[in-house]
Amino acid sequence: MKNSVHLNTKILGLIGHPLKHSYSPFIHNIAIDLKEIDYIYLPFDIPTSNLKNAVRGMIALGIRGFNVTIPHKENIIQFMSNVSEEASIIGAVNTVVNELGKLSGYNTDVNGILETLNPFKEEIFGNEISIIGAGGASRAVIYTLIRYFKPSKIFLVNRTEQRADSLKNYFQDKMKYNSFKTKELFPPDLVEVFRSSKLIVNATSVGMYPDVDDSITMLADSFAKGQIVFDLVYNPIQTNLLKLASSNGAIALDGLKMLVYQAAKSFELWTSETMPVEQVYKSLQLFLKV
Ligand code: ATR
Repeated sequence: MKNSVHLNTKILGLIGHPLKHSYSPFIHNIAIDLKEIDYIYLPFDIPTSNLKNAVRGMIALGIRGFNVTIPHKENIIQFMSNVSEEASIIGAVNTVVNELGKLSGYNTDVNGILETLNPFKEEIFGNEISIIGAGGASRAVIYTLIRYFKPSKIFLVNRTEQRADSLKNYFQDKMKYNSFKTKELFPPDLVEVFRSSKLIVNATSVGMYPDVDDSITMLADSFAKGQIVFDLVYNPIQTNLLKLASSNGAIALDGLKMLVYQAAKSFELWTSETMPVEQVYKSLQLFLKV
């Protein structure tokens, strides 16, 4: 790191608990170095019981902005003076900007998802899609796809079907989207669902380090040429799901690009500077030895 700290250095950070395996400090400090701007990005491990104090502290110390991760993405909203439209519909904030003590909340996961999928917009737009998972990550995916890709149908697949049902009801109400079908995550039945989907998104943690041998499905005939499979998991980059998809001719999109692009949007909100995403992406690949 070339960063050095001065009297006027502006502080950025990340709050979450526990803060394991976060690449955000690496990404932002590399971008700060590349842009030669006077900022530093620091991780802060904040348990839930200390969230309120931490937010007060951030304001008192004049911290310019911070990312928010598990478990605070929903709880942080109560401390915001403004919440962007997408963060409000998704119900989660991952980026906070501090303007002289007034905090504004954003959800830049939307930008990460958009930048990853936009090159395939023509193929995806108006088609049937499958989204696996009914947690926080899935909410950002559902919002982005309904808003920007107008799918003809969304198959919402989850291990606990009841959670998929409540998510369906939530988005039907919030976004007036009525073409959901929920399904239990049960591989033999999924082959048909996946085969009819132009895009399949894994928004669960299945396949994530250390359980890298796991996959939503091991059934090769779930995927075919012409399909797009997007796995939000970025550690490892090539998950078993993506390996299976590409070995069947599908286009495999990994979660690393999304990670860099969501960071790029946060960076821009804090610094008004454009993140050099290609260079940051390459540095991250070198760092991860991929
Ligand atoms: P996040 O904010 O990362 O989305 P989350 O809200 O805890 O995290 O949601 C995790 C998602 O991954 C859920 O959809 C969960 O399924 P359940 O609703 O049934 O719990 C899914 N998930 C996690 N581990 C899983 C596993 N081993 N098999 C299948 N689904 C799993």
